[in-house]
Parts: sequence; structure tokens; C-alpha cells
Amino acid sequence: MAITKQHLDFLFTLSFIFFFHLHCSTTSAQAPAPAPPTPLDIIKILGKASQYTIFIRLLRSTQVSDRLIGELTDADDGKTIFAPTDKAFSNLESGALNSLNDEQRVELVLYHVVPIYIPLNQFQTVSNPMGTQAGDSGDGAFPLNVTTAGNTVTLMTGLTKTRVAGTIYTDGQLAIYRVDQVLQPLQIFASRSSGPAPAPGNSRKAAEKSKASTLALHNLALLAFSIMVF
Ligand SMILES: *[C@@H]1O[C@H](CO)[C@@H](O)[C@H](O)[C@H]1NC(C)=O
Repeated sequence: MAITKQHLDFLFTLSFIFFFHLHCSTTSAQAPAPAPPTPLDIIKILGKASQYTIFIRLLRSTQVSDRLIGELTDADDGKTIFAPTDKAFSNLESGALNSLNDEQRVELVLYHVVPIYIPLNQFQTVSNPMGTQAGDSGDGAFPLNVTTAGNTVTLMTGLTKTRVAGTIYTDGQLAIYRVDQVLQPLQIFASRSSGPAPAPGNSRKAAEKSKASTLALHNLALLAFSIMVF
């Protein structure tokens, strides 16, 4: 019967459209996030350089390294990291690192990260105080100043004054420089020498809140992705 054949043709076309659409939406769901061939593994880069075991341990235990790798894959501004050597950490007042709480450890690590890529010969263009990923660069918080003289780049925190001592890695998106002293932010180390540290209640709450919203966002993205696939 002619009608049956027409029906069959119709069904065939319909299913073709359906599967074509399915195929397209699956491909387009994957398309917006083309993963770079190899995400920049900061830990691996520092591991090769061998004298950064304490900084690596801090990057790991605070989970800042995972966060940075995630940010590097979707942000174009890049990152600049000042990596203190093991010797730099050993120059800290004894017990200084151990006495920090979890939040202060995260802040200390993030203070060594600038959320833009700065090539060595571009530090003279940076305006002071330079913003770090620890946040507030205001007086008494997390200001980081930089001055240049010829090839010498000097970093000043208000407590620490040290030079960029060498380039560990640079690729146009990520720069990692060696520093021979830990950059001590006023917020953490100034309060240590003049009385007890302020209660970290509020900022800890804020950190927890942002952690929760990141998780919610992640779940939402997962849900959206599942819907597109199915
Ligand atoms: C950093 O630079 C700002 C602006 O020039 C200045 O007000 C501040 O005192 C400087 N701080 C340090 C620690 O050098």
C-alpha cells in the first residue's frame, strides 16, 4: 500500500532528523570547552625544579594548585607565580608556618599568585600595589609592591623585600619566578609580631560560602550537560 510506504518514509525522515539533532546537540555540548592538549601542571613544573618541596606541599594541601590549573584553562589573563625556595621557607621564624590556620595558609599561597601573566620585562608597567589572588591590596592587608631597576625586579610587602631571583617557567600565559624569601603579607605576619591574630570568623564564613556556591555551580553545569546529551 502506498500509504504505508509514505508512512515509512516519513518515519525514516523523522528518525533521521532525530538522530541528526541528537548528534549535533551532543557535539555542540562538548564544543564550547575544548580542553587544551595538556593543562599546565604547576606542581610538575615546580617538581622538576626540585628545590620547591615546601611550596609544593602548601599548594597541594590548600588545594590552590587544583584551583589554579582550573583557572588557567578558562582564563586568558594568565598567572604569575612567585615560588619561594625551600631555603626561603627555612628562613622564616621557626614555627611560623605551623602556627598558621588553614585559612591563613590559603591566603599565604594565594599572595604568591598574581592573576595576570607578567613577563619579566613588563614589571615596570605594573602599578602599585599589585593585586594578588589573596585579595585586598589595601594598607595592612595584602599589598604587594614592585619596583624595577634595569633587569632587577624588587618585591616589597611591607615586611619582606626580595628580588625576583630567576625564571622557572614562562610560556606567554603562565610565568613562575623564583624568590629567595617567602613574601610575608602584613595581614598575616604583622599581627603575629604585635599581639594575637584577629579572629578569622568572617572571612572563613565567606570562604565557605564561596566554596558552596562553586559546588552549586558545578552541579548546575553537570545538570545542564546531562540535559543536552539526553
Ligand atoms: C606600595 O605602594 C603604594 C603606592 O605607591 C604606597 O602607598 C605604599 O606605601 C607602598 N607600600 C610598600 C610596602 O612599599
